[in-house]
Amino acid sequence: IKKIGILTSGGDAPGMNPAIRAVVRTCLANGIEVYGIYDGYAGLHADKIVKLERRSVSDVINRGGTFLGTARFPEFKEEQVRREAIQNLEKHGIEALVVVGGDGSYMGAKKLSEMGYPCIGVPGTIDNDIAGTDYTIGFMTCLNTIVDAVDRLRDTSSSHNRISIVEIMGRYCGDLTLWASVAGGSEYVIVPEKDFCEEALLAQLADGEAKGKKHAIIAITEHVTDVNALAKRIEEQTGRETRATILGHIQRGGAPMAFDRVLASRMGVFSVELLMKGESARCIGIQNGKMVHHDIIHCLEDMKRPFREDLFELSNVLF
Ligand code: F6P
Repeated sequence: IKKIGILTSGGDAPGMNPAIRAVVRTCLANGIEVYGIYDGYAGLHADKIVKLERRSVSDVINRGGTFLGTARFPEFKEEQVRREAIQNLEKHGIEALVVVGGDGSYMGAKKLSEMGYPCIGVPGTIDNDIAGTDYTIGFMTCLNTIVDAVDRLRDTSSSHNRISIVEIMGRYCGDLTLWASVAGGSEYVIVPEKDFCEEALLAQLADGEAKGKKHAIIAITEHVTDVNALAKRIEEQTGRETRATILGHIQRGGAPMAFDRVLASRMGVFSVELLMKGESARCIGIQNGKMVHHDIIHCLEDMKRPFREDLFELSNVLF
């Protein structure tokens, strides 16, 4: 293989830059030319393709976001758009593509693979919602940002004897909420994987108050319910001051922590090694500390992420 392309796609995640850096440096060390595709699949379709050199990835290991840029590009679902994208790749002589992103990005890579274009998926998303890997790039850094925010909320909610609801990203995956609950010591955890029962929450709050808890933190994944409306109802039902905080895109920013830099570096190197072995339509993961790869179609269609019941139990035991 002589030329490889790389793009980042979907929501950015801290650690995408170290992943690009690892791909670029591994390619160059093996005499392979490497091309950066700017702004994800949108840039691929618009032919925003630039040759990268060693220096292109200097001083990016510590930077959040992705210097290649990213985009959400639903048009990539159209076969004609993908055909034009492949033509752009072929025009530059690029023989294979590394895609760093979440499940939407994997879908694009899967479709390109099905059209005969070799792709490797690297899991880059804060959500930790990809099957076949214990961790996605960006999850740990994002988790730390959330825990820092929850600590701050604890200070103020304890000073005011308030109930604090904190809405956490994750799309339809409760991992960030679950881990942040255990690490941040929140009293109540609400995740999409478990049915949400408002009466049960109110009963738990009453129980906590009876035990002398003067303040409470409720961690909840986005999309479960309207947190501002929930805060109002809790206030009405309990007579206790309640505030909702939506952490939002703050969660996606910041320098990648060491764990994500190492994970991204390992995954970046591994993706090039797979392409050098002639592999295609694979997605990379880390399982039990080891680099693994799975069929990307199988990963998207059949594999499921196991829900961490153990952590859910733990958060309930420790509350
Ligand atoms: O997939 C990452 C993520 O941050 C999700 O947690 C969230 O639901 C979504 O992206 C937000 O997307 P956008 O940045 O396009 O608003």
